[in-house]
Amino acid sequence: MDVQARRKVLRLFPYGLYVVTVRYESQINGFTANWVTQCSFEPPMVAIAVEDQSRSLVMLHQSGVFAVNVLASGQRELAGLFSRSSRKAPDKMAGIAHRVGVTGVPILEEALGYVECRVVTNCPAGDHTLFVGEVVEAGVLREGTALTLQEAGFRYGG
Ligand SMILES: Cc1cc2nc3c(=O)[nH]c(=O)nc-3n(C[C@H](O)[C@H](O)[C@H](O)COP(=O)(O)O)c2cc1C
Repeated sequence: MDVQARRKVLRLFPYGLYVVTVRYESQINGFTANWVTQCSFEPPMVAIAVEDQSRSLVMLHQSGVFAVNVLASGQRELAGLFSRSSRKAPDKMAGIAHRVGVTGVPILEEALGYVECRVVTNCPAGDHTLFVGEVVEAGVLREGTALTLQEAGFRYGG
């Protein structure tokens, strides 16, 4: 395989940019993600790919719930904040306005909207784990245009 071509083509994939939020008991956390997609209409389902080294992965395995918060155009800084590892930034949610969703996960007040999901299955996928969640709650917080990976100028793919 032409590795340069593989990288280039995979980086041409257009993506949105989200904060996936998680909770386990009294701990709350969130991480920036672009490997997020709806994957079923009925029931409505969303798939996310989660880094094997992340703290969020452990919390997801323990709790089986997550929310996908849709960031707005202009929220690059917020995406940058949530892309920091919990090892270096153990309390990323500090100072972040949020409410508690029906599943118990934090919902970012600054997001355009969110879906809350209960994990129905997961499977290892190389250095990530795929989680498929059924959407059990959703909310529109305000109108606006969603942030994209391209607008933010970040790179996560290849
Ligand atoms: C632009 C961008 C997109 C990212 N997309 C994902 C993703 O789809 N899945 C993932 O697990 N991590 C993704 N990350 C990395 C996580 O945000 C990062 O590993 C985070 O530190 C994990 O946090 P945690 O240790 O608190 O769980 C992305 C990072 C950036 C900068």
